[in-house]
Amino acid sequence: MNLSKFVDELPVPAVLKPRYKDRFHTYYEVNMTQFKQSLHRDLPETTVWGFEGAYPGPTFEVESGEKVFVKWINNLPDKHLLPIDHTVHGAHLGVPEVRTVIHLHGASVEPESDGYPEAWFTKGFEQVGPHFSKEIYRYDNFMPACTLWYHDHVIGITRLNVYAGLAGFYLVRDQRERELNLPSGQFDIPLIIQDKSFLPDGSLSYPKQPKKPVKELDTSIIPEFLGDAIVVNGKVWPYFNVEPRKYRFRLLNGSNTRFYRLKLDSEQLLYQIATDSGLIEYPNGIKEVILAPAERVEVIIDFTKLEGKRIVMTNDAPFPFPDGEPVDSNTVGKVMEFRVVLPLSGNDTSVIPSFMVPFPKRRVQTASKFRFLALTSKMDQYGREVMLLNDQDWDAPITENPKLGQTEVWYLLNLTTDTHPIHLHLVDFQVIDRRAFDVEKYKQKGILDYTGQAMPPTPQERGRKDTVIAYSNQVTRIIMKFGPYTGLYVWHCHILEHEDYVMMRPFCVIP
Ligand code: C2O
Ligand code: CU
Repeated sequence: MNLSKFVDELPVPAVLKPRYKDRFHTYYEVNMTQFKQSLHRDLPETTVWGFEGAYPGPTFEVESGEKVFVKWINNLPDKHLLPIDHTVHGAHLGVPEVRTVIHLHGASVEPESDGYPEAWFTKGFEQVGPHFSKEIYRYDNFMPACTLWYHDHVIGITRLNVYAGLAGFYLVRDQRERELNLPSGQFDIPLIIQDKSFLPDGSLSYPKQPKKPVKELDTSIIPEFLGDAIVVNGKVWPYFNVEPRKYRFRLLNGSNTRFYRLKLDSEQLLYQIATDSGLIEYPNGIKEVILAPAERVEVIIDFTKLEGKRIVMTNDAPFPFPDGEPVDSNTVGKVMEFRVVLPLSGNDTSVIPSFMVPFPKRRVQTASKFRFLALTSKMDQYGREVMLLNDQDWDAPITENPKLGQTEVWYLLNLTTDTHPIHLHLVDFQVIDRRAFDVEKYKQKGILDYTGQAMPPTPQERGRKDTVIAYSNQVTRIIMKFGPYTGLYVWHCHILEHEDYVMMRPFCVIP
């Protein structure tokens, strides 16, 4: 569909109000429902799934250390909006079609509240998955100020539930952040960037079959999803009216598969102030931002003295990333437009600080465990490529059992031809380096032979991370300390089509 660009104003998700709040805890209830919402001026209303009647869901704003309790309530219909492949693990015939479980991405959370893929529940908690243990989740919010997001994480249909709309922001604030005098309030804007496709009647389109259809199946999972329209905060190619001053933008790639490489067509710098898990040490002036699915970057954009200008945020990330087909610069090559048309409502006293927070580097010498984990693939019985972690199915016995408080280095050896954004629950990590290696030798003899120099993380990645891009033919090393909770978590590729089939594994932190 060919939709006009920059005709709808960017919506800013509403801030969610707690049902109850006192000095000791805050309680929210959040309903998931199906409803119709206008995603573009020229498109009939789209049936979506969302939280509290909104897609994307409302934004949580919590203080670091605040004890937050959330009851996620499934009030969705019994029938799914999108085509389900019942051959995918956890989605077989017999399990209820519409299941949900919500994960707070990037948060360090007790295992019972982490949204384990098999802790799903249906409408009214009538049916629950084998790992379900409680209706009201508890978030301790030990993290410093950061941009998190919540989204569905159910086994087998995460890609469909998130595509239908089950995602929203969760912002953690703290005192240090306030002292920095960053742009705030109406000048602090979260942007969830997604790609979608629509049918002329306005409905969401998601393929029932891959390009090379699987004849034996009515519906088959696809290896990746790429939409032909860019949706920001639930509007297709929106515009945003701004004042000639500084703004803080929290960029989130909430897409199923698509990577973005974002720039401003004014060529101006973006001042990066945060990575996935919070503020970085010093602001980082960059021309472009690369975002794999689930990655976040916060930037300050300065529109001072740009009165009257229209600035387009563009995307030139090819697919497959990084060296596939160039994107169409007239469609998904555009993201949104900033229009510097609002009068200055007051002096801009916010700053781009010269120093933000200390960033103690984790040293490899402090690690007591080194794990070599291969990203692999195989063919299934229908001739489809299945992406795997370490050649293991989801159901295979748990092999990653880090000890509480232990620092580990994970070598992510990408033996596939795809790029995979790898995400770990519970912890944040630091990227140590990336290094090319001899994939064939590793496959045949299990010998890790480097063929290139170690490359440090990109400037954009020098901070606390929870998702890292693992490129093909490279070893990506990350370092993290496991805790403060013990129990069952997952790590996975955040390309949702890969995560569902079946690039996800449990890990268990042991006392
Ligand atoms: Cu954003 Cu395990 O997910
Ligand atoms: Cu992947």
